[in-house]
Amino acid sequence: MSPDEVVRTIIAPVGATHQAQRANLLQYLCQIQHQLNCIPAAAINQLAGALHISAAEVRGVIEFYAFLHEQPRGQYDILFSDNITDQMLGSRKLLAQLCKRLDTEPGIPREDLRVTIDTTSCTGICEQGPALLVNGLVVSRLDNSRIEQIADLIESEVDATEWPQAFFLVEDNIHRRDQLLSKQTADLTPDGSALRALLQHDATTLLETIEASGLQGRGGAGFSAGKKWRRSKQTEADCRYVVCNADEGEPGTFKDRVLLNSYADSMFEGMTLCAGIIHAQHGYLYLRGEYRYLLESLQQVLQRRRDNKLLGRNILGKQGFDFDIDIHLGAGAYICGEESSLIESLEGKRGIPRKRPPFPATDGYLHKPTVINNVETFMAAAKIAVLGADWFRSSGTADSPGTKLLSISGDCKRPGTYEYPFGVTIRQILDDCGAENTQAVQIAGAAGTTLPITETDHCIAFEDIATAGSFMVFNNDRDLFQIVQNFTHFFAHESCGLCTPCRVGGELLKDLVDKLVNGHATRHDIGEIETIGALMQTASHCGLGSTAPNPILDLLKHFPQLVEKKLAHSNYEPAFDLDAALQESRDITGRDDAGAHIESLP
Ligand SMILES: Cc1cc2nc3c(=O)[nH]c(=O)nc-3n(C[C@H](O)[C@H](O)[C@H](O)COP(=O)(O)O)c2cc1C
Ligand code: SF4
Repeated sequence: MSPDEVVRTIIAPVGATHQAQRANLLQYLCQIQHQLNCIPAAAINQLAGALHISAAEVRGVIEFYAFLHEQPRGQYDILFSDNITDQMLGSRKLLAQLCKRLDTEPGIPREDLRVTIDTTSCTGICEQGPALLVNGLVVSRLDNSRIEQIADLIESEVDATEWPQAFFLVEDNIHRRDQLLSKQTADLTPDGSALRALLQHDATTLLETIEASGLQGRGGAGFSAGKKWRRSKQTEADCRYVVCNADEGEPGTFKDRVLLNSYADSMFEGMTLCAGIIHAQHGYLYLRGEYRYLLESLQQVLQRRRDNKLLGRNILGKQGFDFDIDIHLGAGAYICGEESSLIESLEGKRGIPRKRPPFPATDGYLHKPTVINNVETFMAAAKIAVLGADWFRSSGTADSPGTKLLSISGDCKRPGTYEYPFGVTIRQILDDCGAENTQAVQIAGAAGTTLPITETDHCIAFEDIATAGSFMVFNNDRDLFQIVQNFTHFFAHESCGLCTPCRVGGELLKDLVDKLVNGHATRHDIGEIETIGALMQTASHCGLGSTAPNPILDLLKHFPQLVEKKLAHSNYEPAFDLDAALQESRDITGRDDAGAHIESLP
């Protein structure tokens, strides 16, 4: 099909309002990219004309998202997952092997436009890595022989959808089930039971139950779900929205992938329950682009729910209970997991975080009250509606009721998804997953907390160590500097660039961490890292910038002996006085950091 024909078939379901069409821009772009492997100028102009916006605005959106490209990427667009856990499993060597076999350079389309090989941030397949995406499909468990096969398939032009099915196997790997995932709970809460509970009682009673359960958001921040729902319900508006955050971009997190694969009904039920309580008519599942391979099965679940009167008009026969859900795809931008960026992205724009307050609960999608919750939060809410607040509070701690799903990866024998009551110690988790010779654990992903093995009496709970799910284990053979370097580069790459502390601070931090890793840093550089890190933590506009320095600051705090060994020139007096030689230029530029290059340890 020509770009013209592709755009014509994609845009404009008849009757869609102009506002709705504009909000679909990102979805149109994702479809064009998927079908044509790029978004050509003709398609950009056509889209701009149809949506009454400028071509520059369309280009601005394309430029923001890593998975959209104006220039052709090649028939096979290959992206190796570049999370530290993939690297630990040898992803960089495998990438080099494939580049060599296909005679191409990373990031540059091959001359015949057959293939582009590049990297992307974590693809959420950490426990079955190394992984790659080929035209949006996930290939897991890469090794030398699989790479050789992939090279052959590409050279023989076998369509990626026809590659061996074993390549695309992504298992759930659930190793521990508790309150949410147990078979017993599933038997007690068949599809539709939360909605029946809602119709049997009423919205006010059900909202009180959710509040009484103490359910806190599972996406990281832990805000009370009940409070959020009540605030939305109480805001005067002609319509409201329910949005499920399935962006799951935090490196090392993959528990939502498992829920989307095997528990989607429960999640959609929680969204519909929320809609019934706050009186919303429409919902969105914001699905990260890396999980495009789950799109079809999720759409089938939605259709089945429509067929069973669990979605659509007059749900379960209740007059006026109307609610339906669309799936919107992300396109490779970690920042779009932040709720206000996610709303911008849902509206088809660049995912730049909004100023808050107002919060989405009162002023969200299209400036209407919008409840945004994580996949696991909606799933828990659906169970609470049926089994009650006391059932939920019977697990966990007083301040963190319920359970938490963890995505465990790295140096352990049994990586996968584990469900634990809040309050479980890190020591217990390490024992269960078969971690040995552990040096450190990284909890809550790149933005989270790094702890040495001596601190494993801490527990997973909002009052101690909070996490959206990521739990990466590093043994004593790992170089923690390399790990911190990976995370610092990740943040610098993913910064949206809106505010200076994060945009500039992230780059400065990256350079300083590189210097430290390469053994060229001095004590002065450590001071710089601490100053820039503190500034980013306090002055950044959103959570990305304020958490970006965590990995390096935790390393400095918990592993000072390793840092000191890495410093250059700590006990070294040079024969040549560089400061004196540079004094004139120092005076001109106003620098007052004499000794920066040789500052010695106290
Ligand atoms: C940079 C950044 C990325 C985030 N990514 C996600 C994400 O992928 N999934 C998620 O549920 N929440 C994510 N959040 C948290 C959301 O902003 C928001 O708190 C969450 O969706 C609310 O749902 P919950 O209360 O159920 O946790 C992110 C926050 C930040 C600052
Ligand atoms: S902190 Fe970073 S990601 Fe957040 S708004 Fe500022 S530049 Fe963008």
